[in-house]
Amino acid sequence: MNNIAIFASGTGSNFQALINDPKIRPAVRLLVCDQENAQVISRAERENIPVFVCLAKDHVNKASFEEKILTKLKGHQINFCVLAGYMRMIGNTLLAAYPKRIINLHPSFLPEFPGKDAIGQAFRAGVAQTGITAHFVDSGVDTGPIIAQERISILQGESEEELTQKIHQAEHRFYPTIVCDLILGNVACERKEG
Ligand code: GRF
Repeated sequence: MNNIAIFASGTGSNFQALINDPKIRPAVRLLVCDQENAQVISRAERENIPVFVCLAKDHVNKASFEEKILTKLKGHQINFCVLAGYMRMIGNTLLAAYPKRIINLHPSFLPEFPGKDAIGQAFRAGVAQTGITAHFVDSGVDTGPIIAQERISILQGESEEELTQKIHQAEHRFYPTIVCDLILGNVACERKEG
């Protein structure tokens, strides 16, 4: 079985959805968090999942920050990293150690609306559809090869809050499926056209 580390920075609702899946839970060996008071930490503690809080400000540069994380990952024999609301770019140290073994969830239909506040970007653009995407992580901002994606409609009169809730619900169903496939080794790395 693959050993997974989940990386998260905030609320951790996707972390929760992942560990609620009984097929995924045994593979989750570590939470890596870059914020000391993030809600996701208590979610992991409740489930007895080891937590590694690593703060960028305690390191001289990104390479030493990631070296620290890498040492921890190796100690837990992690071979897949699953980003779930991790609000930091992955640098060369981790990318080199985990080629095609770091995935991310993004709340838009990439390549549309990359970067921060993707839901707000789509809402303000007035488009009729947005989406969610799981992709491999590369050195760009949400540019890595797409694993799978789903379209989500933006209804007339829908508020940004309602849209956000709808997207999160979809993510909680979608991402565990992707991670299951990944654990089973069924992920095809191909770009799907919308
Ligand atoms: C999700 O919308 C995810 O797509 C994005 O960050 C958000 C994390 O939410 N990358 P949560 O912390 O899992 O609740």
